[in-house]
Amino acid sequence: MNNIFDSHAHYDSEAFDDDRKELISALPQRGVCGVINCATDMATCEVSLQLADEYDFIYAACGVHPHEAEECAENYLVPLREMCLKEKCVAVGEIGLDYHYDFSPRDTQLKIFEEQIILANELQMPIIVHDREAHEDTMNLLKKYKPKGVVHCFSGSAEMAKEVLKLGMYIGLGGATTFKNARKPLEVAAMVPEDKLLIETDCPYMTPVPFRGQRNDSSLIPYTAQVLAGVRNTTPEEILETTRRNANKLFGTEL
Ligand code: NI
Repeated sequence: MNNIFDSHAHYDSEAFDDDRKELISALPQRGVCGVINCATDMATCEVSLQLADEYDFIYAACGVHPHEAEECAENYLVPLREMCLKEKCVAVGEIGLDYHYDFSPRDTQLKIFEEQIILANELQMPIIVHDREAHEDTMNLLKKYKPKGVVHCFSGSAEMAKEVLKLGMYIGLGGATTFKNARKPLEVAAMVPEDKLLIETDCPYMTPVPFRGQRNDSSLIPYTAQVLAGVRNTTPEEILETTRRNANKLFGTEL
């Protein structure tokens, strides 16, 4: 049965340039029912929408990633709003803060993140949040605007997860839960309520063990589901079914 719903993928990445079509076309035969392709800048917004047009089971998230915040044109919100309004765009993302790499100055990251949260709230769309080593500033903005959405590749503590859940947001977990040093993500994986859990790849990155180091894709999600099932005392099949249902609810899809 097809019940792998990958809530966070980047099939626009150049890592898929050699075999994108073959790989994506084969995903449904490998159990995949849905994919949210997350943009990181204006160009990848367009590619995400093209992929969504091409494949029934792919939907797009349009937004500007903190890494690209500084490259953003002055009036980016005008074309971004237009793209968000397209039928197959179901979220504003991925957006957020990254104080690990600091590729854009922090004040620019904060400005672009805040503007896009406001846009999402106006359009009544969920956001897909990237938070790397910026937990406090991320939480402050989420508490201020109370958007719908998911904190993807959740890397905070169980304490922070409680705060996110209090806001009604979802927690996205992926390959990082399978890594050797995955103490915190596993604590979080154990405590997220059943109706707030999403599963994801962040492909081509974050490949689950035993394929860590190779390119990731949505068909490898069962390896993550296996680990989540272990800490949640359930079956991988149940994890896939639950996360499929939750993703459909958050994104308004029927996959
Ligand atoms: Ni991502």
